[in-house]
Amino acid sequence: MNYLLKRSVLTAAVVGALTMGQVQANNVEVLHWWTSGGEARAVGVLKDLMEERGHQWRDFAVAGGGGESAMTVLRSRAVAGNPPVAAQIKGPDIQEWGSLGFLGEINTVAKEVGWQALLPEVIIEAMQHDGDYVAVPVNVHRVNWFWANPEVLAAAGVDDMPTTWEAFFEAAEAIKEAGYIPLAHGGQPWQDATVFESMLLGIGGVDFYRQAMVELDQEALASDTMIEVLKNFKRLRDYMDPNAPGREWNAATQMVVNGQAAFQIMGDWAKGELTAAGLTAGEDFLCMGVPGTDHTFTYNVDSLAMFKVSGARAREAQLDLARLSMEPAFQEAFNLAKGSIPARMDLDMSRFDSCAVKSMADFKASADAGTLVPSMAHGMAVSSDAQGAIFDVVTNYFNSRRMTAEEAAERLARAVRAAG
Ligand code: GAL
Repeated sequence: MNYLLKRSVLTAAVVGALTMGQVQANNVEVLHWWTSGGEARAVGVLKDLMEERGHQWRDFAVAGGGGESAMTVLRSRAVAGNPPVAAQIKGPDIQEWGSLGFLGEINTVAKEVGWQALLPEVIIEAMQHDGDYVAVPVNVHRVNWFWANPEVLAAAGVDDMPTTWEAFFEAAEAIKEAGYIPLAHGGQPWQDATVFESMLLGIGGVDFYRQAMVELDQEALASDTMIEVLKNFKRLRDYMDPNAPGREWNAATQMVVNGQAAFQIMGDWAKGELTAAGLTAGEDFLCMGVPGTDHTFTYNVDSLAMFKVSGARAREAQLDLARLSMEPAFQEAFNLAKGSIPARMDLDMSRFDSCAVKSMADFKASADAGTLVPSMAHGMAVSSDAQGAIFDVVTNYFNSRRMTAEEAAERLARAVRAAG
């Protein structure tokens, strides 16, 4: 749906939404798309804690990695005047929903717990609309991760994790030769974009990433650097299996788990799957920043945005949801299952694995060094319309036999311009 159209439809619906009273008693309906093994474990933590406090959890899960289907369902529920109490909404989308008047503030909770002192700057900004807290952050996912099965590497005679793209392509050749799939992948637009943005960061560097994926600078989008990124991106196809199209991301992770494939490029929700399968970080699987990005951090913060509710009990349940989502016990248990790190920076990390400890250290170091960047593929950097335009070009190019990298770069610039 075009942004302006979407905006007018939603504006028309907002009055209905606020008068229908979407919550009965202390029933808390929360929309999310956490349906894989690791994700379901994580959301179970929230459900149990809410129920312990006497609220009735109504799960509103819409399957589909990356959340596109969930957002479509959310829009139609909102248009029908019946949004949930809270929904997993991220980044600039929070601002969009806020401007349309759908979101309620949770300032009292933020103040009583002192969120300002507990959260990093980038998260504080994203959780607020017009100076009010309207969402609670539950984690920080790192997107530019590179996962590996060490047994497959050993079987193919690859001694070290590749730290450059050149080394990656060399290793991939050896792995293919040894009869394994070098890169596990699911051919869906958001997964293609996840790999693409990580490669772009690795090849182009932080400044180029910001120009192209955050500022949507026309010159950067059509530049020689972009063409180089696109060429290398296309090379990855030679190292994926023919069944990649349409595959879910967690099915790709399973290929790394069972030793069919050597690597996966995916955010650390993949670690939720690896640990749910009983594997141990640093032993049964390895983690590293995507080649060329180890000193940077692409962040993707999951957050629950609060819709306006009517009725004192519903409001109480919503404030409780906001309160407990920031409690240390929840942030620890949820993130241990989800593969991410806590959104609060003050927690004891002793129960976390080596990849999570590295993630926390890299997040802090990147924030200090100015190399922290928002993920375009995961809705943290640009509007959903610009994101959709990038997804289309990236996926079409990746799957096209004819389109050249030069044409793709031009199309990218044009598509982004047209998306406004
Ligand atoms: C991301 C989301 C994660 C995870 C992933 C796969 O966009 O932030 O929490 O669910 O999609 O669905």
